[in-house]
Amino acid sequence: GEEIREAFLNFYAERGHKRMASASLIPEDPTVLLTIAGMLPFKPVFLGQQERPAPRATSSQKCIRTNDIENVGRTARHHTFFEMLGNWSFGDYFKEEAIDWAWSLLTEVYGLDPDRFYATWFEGDASQGLEPDHGARDLWLRHLPPDHVLPGNAKDNFWEMGETGPCGPCSELHYDRIGGRNAAALVNQDDPDVLEIWNLVFMQFDKPEKDAEMIPLPRPSIDTGMGLERVSAILQGRHDNYDVDLLRKLIEASAHASNDDPDGDNNVSHRVIADHLRSAAFLVADGVQPSNEGRGYVLRRIMRRGMRHAHKIGNKDPLMHRLVPTLVESMGEHFTELRRAEASITEILRLEETRFKETLDRGLRLLGEETDRLGEGEALPGAVAFRLYDTFGFPLDLTADILRGQG
Ligand code: SER
Repeated sequence: GEEIREAFLNFYAERGHKRMASASLIPEDPTVLLTIAGMLPFKPVFLGQQERPAPRATSSQKCIRTNDIENVGRTARHHTFFEMLGNWSFGDYFKEEAIDWAWSLLTEVYGLDPDRFYATWFEGDASQGLEPDHGARDLWLRHLPPDHVLPGNAKDNFWEMGETGPCGPCSELHYDRIGGRNAAALVNQDDPDVLEIWNLVFMQFDKPEKDAEMIPLPRPSIDTGMGLERVSAILQGRHDNYDVDLLRKLIEASAHASNDDPDGDNNVSHRVIADHLRSAAFLVADGVQPSNEGRGYVLRRIMRRGMRHAHKIGNKDPLMHRLVPTLVESMGEHFTELRRAEASITEILRLEETRFKETLDRGLRLLGEETDRLGEGEALPGAVAFRLYDTFGFPLDLTADILRGQG
């Protein structure tokens, strides 16, 4: 993982990009709670409100997204914490270089089989007055045969940060893990073997307000994002992002500290613990403390979910803080903030788990009694979920996670 990240940053540095450290998980941008994409720190640059740090930049941005938290640990590809590798042009180069370099990095530096790639381009959307992106299509056709260059609709091929902000048509690169076939029909179908690995956004517009008309940006720009965990899984020949070295080490540490088998019955719990440890540690390193509101509550929810899994697999004593050295060892060289904050990460995790353990057992007992009383297909009353939240410190999604585990 470290080498794959380094190869990416190096490749773009050699092409005149300024290597930037990952920005904080706490964005300056007030429209989002946490950093969700590599472009976020550069939003004011795209909008022309801030001077560009350089004409071109590259980074591996730490990101947190909690919208799919219930799938974390249970699937091969969901995380709350991930790294987004990116390269940016702030009104400097545009589509041609973005496409040619992405292609050259994947096929020459990473050595992936060119025949397994599919590129998508934006087919346009008349209802929004958006033209088809034939420019991107034609640039891809220089690298790929026509049946590997596919049109896509606004949902897949027009990237927007949110309801407002910079946006533009995009091209995605999809990779077929199987090969030796035409997998065009499997692109964007959630097929486990045909994955989107890189999104190249041609930033051209700003949506100043929700549902407002888009206005052209002062300078067309490039914003790309590739998930480090996903590309690492492909390069390391793994089907599951959690088998990538960066996460596998944490899963093994969690199993080892729990006297358990990393691949046994409790495998999902170890995966959740590994993911949630990364989110929690990086949030603390960026100055977030567990609390009952805002980012602090996002942190608390993530921590407590991880801690409940640690408890469930039989850990009598707090577990998560004991895994911090493994995390620092595997990621602390690149993310020096982890090293700097190691003591406070450890202490905050230990304190939170110690406190939570005081109410966890009683809360679980109450929940057990209530679920025993439920008939087939009956829902847990909201009042019980509220009591668990209010008296026992169970965030609602923790209760949901426990119930999901019981079917
Ligand atoms: N902003 C785009 C994304 O998040 C590309 O970096 O996918």
